[in-house]
Amino acid sequence: MHHTGVKLTGALLVGVAAALMASAPRGPVSELRVCVDPYDMPFSNSQEEGFENKIAHLVAGDLKASVVNYWWPSRRGVLRNSILGGFCDVMMQAPVGLDPVATTKPYYRSTYYFVYRADRGLQLRSLDDTILKHLKIGVNMIGYDYTNTPPAHALSARGIVGLVGFGNFLNPDPKADHPEDIVNAVAKDSIDVAIVWGPLAGYWVKHAPVALTMTALPDSDPVSGMPFAFDMAMAVRHRDKELKAQLDSVIDRRHGDILRVLQEYNVPVIEMRPVTGAAPAPAAAPVPARAATPVRDSVTDSLLVTDSVYQGWKWFHVYCFRCHGEDALCTPTCINPLAIDLRWSLSPAGKAFPRDSFVFVALTGRLAKGMPAWNVMLDTTAIQELYMYVKARSDGWLKPGRPHRLSDLQTKSQ
Ligand code: HEC
Repeated sequence: MHHTGVKLTGALLVGVAAALMASAPRGPVSELRVCVDPYDMPFSNSQEEGFENKIAHLVAGDLKASVVNYWWPSRRGVLRNSILGGFCDVMMQAPVGLDPVATTKPYYRSTYYFVYRADRGLQLRSLDDTILKHLKIGVNMIGYDYTNTPPAHALSARGIVGLVGFGNFLNPDPKADHPEDIVNAVAKDSIDVAIVWGPLAGYWVKHAPVALTMTALPDSDPVSGMPFAFDMAMAVRHRDKELKAQLDSVIDRRHGDILRVLQEYNVPVIEMRPVTGAAPAPAAAPVPARAATPVRDSVTDSLLVTDSVYQGWKWFHVYCFRCHGEDALCTPTCINPLAIDLRWSLSPAGKAFPRDSFVFVALTGRLAKGMPAWNVMLDTTAIQELYMYVKARSDGWLKPGRPHRLSDLQTKSQ
C-alpha cells in the first residue's frame, strides 16, 4: 500500500512536469510513454504479454524510442487518471473518434461476435433469432466510451432481458476484473451464449478447454442503431499533434507488422472502410457513425440534442439506468422498484422538482432509502447534464434511444 502511494506521488510530479512542457515543440521522442492496463489480456498485462504491449514495442522501436509503461486499470476515470492527466502520452488502442482524446489513423477493424459451445448446435445468425429470448446471454456491460456496450443496448432495444453482465468497471481493484470470465462462462455452460468484442473473443476462444463457435454480428444494428464494428486506432491528447503525426507515419510504415501481431493473438480483423476525403476527421462521435442510417432531417429529428444533453444521456446510462430504468422509463415500475420515475419527479404535472433539488438529491443521495450519493463519482457539471437529459425526457420532446448530436450529423454530411 505504501509503495503505491509513493509511486503515485512520483507519477503525479512527472505528470505535472510533462503537462508544463507539453506546449514546447517536440522533436523525435526518446520515450514512448504508454498508458496501459496491468491485468487485461489479451490487450496488456504487467508482464507485457498483451498485443498492446507488443505493438508499443514495435512502434517505439521504429521511432528509436524506449517504452515507458504507466499502469492504470481500465476503470471509471481511467482517461483522467492516465492520458488526460499527463501521466502517459499514448493509448495503443481506442476506437476512432473516442471523444476526449485524438485518434490516429485506424490500423484494424473488428466487431462483436456471438460465442457459444460448438456442441450446442445453435447456429445463431442475428440478434433477431427468436431463440435468444430463451437463452442466458452474457455481455460486457461497459464499452470503450463508458456507456453500455452496443450489444447490451441492442438486446434491451429488443426487450431481451435474460442478460448476465460481465466486467467490473466500477471496482478500482485492478485484479477485480477477469476479462476471460465471459468466454469461460460459455465453456462451462453457465451461460448459453456470450456476445463479445472480437479481440477478447478471438484470444480466449482459442485458449478455451472446449470447442467454441464464433459468429460475427453485422456492422451495425438496424433496431437500436448501435454500431457493432469499430475502426481501432492509437490515441493521444488533442494538443499532441506532432506525436499523432509520428504515430500515423509508423502505422503506414509498419501496418503489416502490426497486423501480424494481431494475428498471433487470434484477433478477428474485418476489412476497414475506405477513408473518405483527405482532410483529417473532425471531432467525431464517440463511436463511429451509424453506417446504415441515412442522414436525418435535423428539423424533424426528435433525437437531436445539444452536447450537454448527450453527455447527460451517457452519464445516465452508466450510473442511473440500473435503478431508474433505461431511457429513464419506469413502466410500470422502475427496474429497482424502490426507485422513482425521474420523468415524473421533474414534470410540472408530477412532483415539479426544481433543478436545485434534483442536483442536491443526486449529489448527496438518500442513503436510507437506497438512493446512492453520487458526489464521489460525478461532479456538479455532470449532474447538471444529467438534469438536462432527464428534463428533456420528462418534457417529452426527446424520444427514447441514443440521442444524436448536431456534430455527428455535420460530420456525416461532409
Ligand atoms: C441503486 C439504485 C439507484 C441508482 C443507481 C440511482 N438511484 Fe436515484 N433513487 C433511487 C431510489 C431508491 C430513490 C427513491 C428514494 C426515495 O424514496 O426518496 C431515488 C431517488 C432519486 C431522486 C429523487 C426523486 C424524487 O422524486 O424524490 C433523484 C433526483 C435521483 N434518484 C437521481 C438519480 C441519478 C441522477 C442517478 C444516477 C447518477 C441515480 N439516481 C441513480 C435509487 C437509485
